[in-house]
Amino acid sequence: MIIVHTIQEIRKYVREQRAKGHTIGFVPTMGYLHDGHLSLLRAAKAQCETVVMSIFVNPLQFGPNEDFERYPRDLERDAKMAEQAGCHIIFAPDVNEMYPRSKGSVLTRVEVDEVTVQLCGASRPGHFRGVATVVSKLFNIVQPDQAFFGMKDAQQVAVLQTMVDDLNIPVEIVPCPILREVDGLAMSSRNVFLSADERQQALVLHASLQMAERMVADGVRDVVQLKQAIREQIQTAPLADIDYVEILNFRDLSPIMTIDQPALLALAVRFGQTRLIDNIVLKIR
Ligand code: PAJ
Repeated sequence: MIIVHTIQEIRKYVREQRAKGHTIGFVPTMGYLHDGHLSLLRAAKAQCETVVMSIFVNPLQFGPNEDFERYPRDLERDAKMAEQAGCHIIFAPDVNEMYPRSKGSVLTRVEVDEVTVQLCGASRPGHFRGVATVVSKLFNIVQPDQAFFGMKDAQQVAVLQTMVDDLNIPVEIVPCPILREVDGLAMSSRNVFLSADERQQALVLHASLQMAERMVADGVRDVVQLKQAIREQIQTAPLADIDYVEILNFRDLSPIMTIDQPALLALAVRFGQTRLIDNIVLKIR
């Protein structure tokens, strides 16, 4: 496996792979890899001949009071894990390579409306503009056939699908399932920040998603009732500080009152300094 840091090098590599007739699968990440990221690499490997991963902690998608500076970084460790999962090349640019204008700024941004107004778009202003901008840059740099994203960030998938549709970007977005620890906590690079108590209490997230799934299976359809039950369950954990509990139409993230078609139940909850997200798609059988 190769590691490159410049746009010129990754472009040259991809050109050579294309000349051999290879399809290109792409997994964009911010690094500090865990099995969730590796599952995306494996999905890419199963479908494409050449697997490219990017590792770039993108300053544009962090708010001024968010954790950009302390976001965990370890390229050496990431490289070992990525290689074992079948990655062929890591593109790990620095901020100046991606944003060469002074102080890492950009004059051109990609803004997606509607699917960005709720959930994390509401609590993290500018976040999805930063994500859409960097991912469109990465798509232009790597020019993959398929790009693999985790449903852990369900709204991110909706935003990027909307972006490629609206801008005719010739990349297929492939959504992949959420990977969890054995006890149910969704894997996340930020889990390392949790204290032992917070880590234990964070199990309430998955438990509340499962409770909601059971309630829907038992015939509950009312969104207000479901949200209330989930909030109460989460509040049984004293360290949990709810940012949002939302149930939206899965297709376009519009508000709904009853579960009569697939719905996205999404949560964001703080434990101390650490904000965790999780979600499930509620379906009626
Ligand atoms: P990052 O948080 O590093 O996540 C990279 C990819 O891994 C995303 O597609 C995310 O949904 C997926 N992922 C994270 N945890 C997962 C889990 N438990 N199971 C399955 N997939 C999981 O998302 C980003 O980086 C950035 O916003 C990025 C798209 C790279 C743009 O900067």
